[in-house]
Amino acid sequence: MSIQEMLKQPSFSLADRYRQMTREQMEERVREIKKELGEALFIPGHHYQKDEVIQFADAVGDSLQLAQISASNKKAKYIVFCGVHFMAETADMLTTKEQTVILPDMRAGCSMADMANIHQTEIAWEKMQALFGDTMLPLTYVNSTAAIKAFVGRNGGATVTSSNAHKLVEWAFTQKERILFLPDQHLGRNTAFDLGIDLDEMAVWDPIRHELEYEGDLSRVKVILWKGHCSVHENFTVKNIEDIRKNDQNMNIIVHPECRREVVGLSDDNGSTKYIIDTIEQSASGSAWAIGTEMNLVNRLIQNHPDKKIISLNPNMCPCLTMNRIDLPHLLWSLDTIVEGGKSNVIEVDEQTTNDALLALNRMLKQ
Ligand code: 13P
Ligand code: SF4
Repeated sequence: MSIQEMLKQPSFSLADRYRQMTREQMEERVREIKKELGEALFIPGHHYQKDEVIQFADAVGDSLQLAQISASNKKAKYIVFCGVHFMAETADMLTTKEQTVILPDMRAGCSMADMANIHQTEIAWEKMQALFGDTMLPLTYVNSTAAIKAFVGRNGGATVTSSNAHKLVEWAFTQKERILFLPDQHLGRNTAFDLGIDLDEMAVWDPIRHELEYEGDLSRVKVILWKGHCSVHENFTVKNIEDIRKNDQNMNIIVHPECRREVVGLSDDNGSTKYIIDTIEQSASGSAWAIGTEMNLVNRLIQNHPDKKIISLNPNMCPCLTMNRIDLPHLLWSLDTIVEGGKSNVIEVDEQTTNDALLALNRMLKQ
């Protein structure tokens, strides 16, 4: 069954009764179920989730923290993952067979993860072996499917998150001469640049045309960047930075490394979701910040720091639409299904894929 067919099945769409409940009624019911299930239920939430959901999270974190938390939680029978599909897959692979991982809305995907599929990756690998021989190590951002993580694991590579990308890229160069970095070209480029690799030592692999974009002597290539991006972070532009610089000289600009190289280069600082949160928390009262990351998180930082002037780097920014699929009605629906003994929206990665992907995930978690 295709994903589209699957989503049309009655068990995958929200029952009408949730549309008739008030927010207060839903919140009350979530509280009751959490009490009833106790430690058998664990709700991890990514920082980009909406407030109506995050208020019920047992742990809130960035991708790395949520992977670590999943790997260490052995108690919960049900893990209701408030994040996107690849995060729930990672949680399933890092937990035991007895634990069930549920994604409240199966439509909560990630457009970046969708930019690399296993078929394209196998073609790319074969073509690049012909160009570079056995000199490459694959690294994949955790924002990728379980099948890509498994491919990377089988080929000696590791997963990375935006919090540990520098460490993992350094490690990769102790293993091989070159790296293939999937699927986010911007995180790959920004990380390699910080580590002293010139932009003209980086090539781009186009997975649609199945070809390498590079002009020059191929022996100079150290990093091959998959031509993927985050459709949220790509919306921060050089023009946004110029506008801020023109209008407010005191504003500090901090962005996520999923933003384009030019944007990161012109900012005052950049780092992972956790790094951005920590930087704002530790900054002086009265300081001013323009932040280039997801809008639910920026709004939460604004609420939590009334003593600081905080704005989005792009004044027309929207939240990540797929993260936003997880809302209070879907969360309650997942919890009701558990209590009623049903099985819906379970994320289950097959054993072979899990075993290979764990090689990549564990290489990362060990670093
Ligand atoms: P981090 O949580 O690693 O900062 O990643 C950001 C992101 O886009 C998650 O989808
Ligand atoms: Fe994917 Fe970007 Fe949304 Fe993160 S913010 S889930 S990378 S689309």
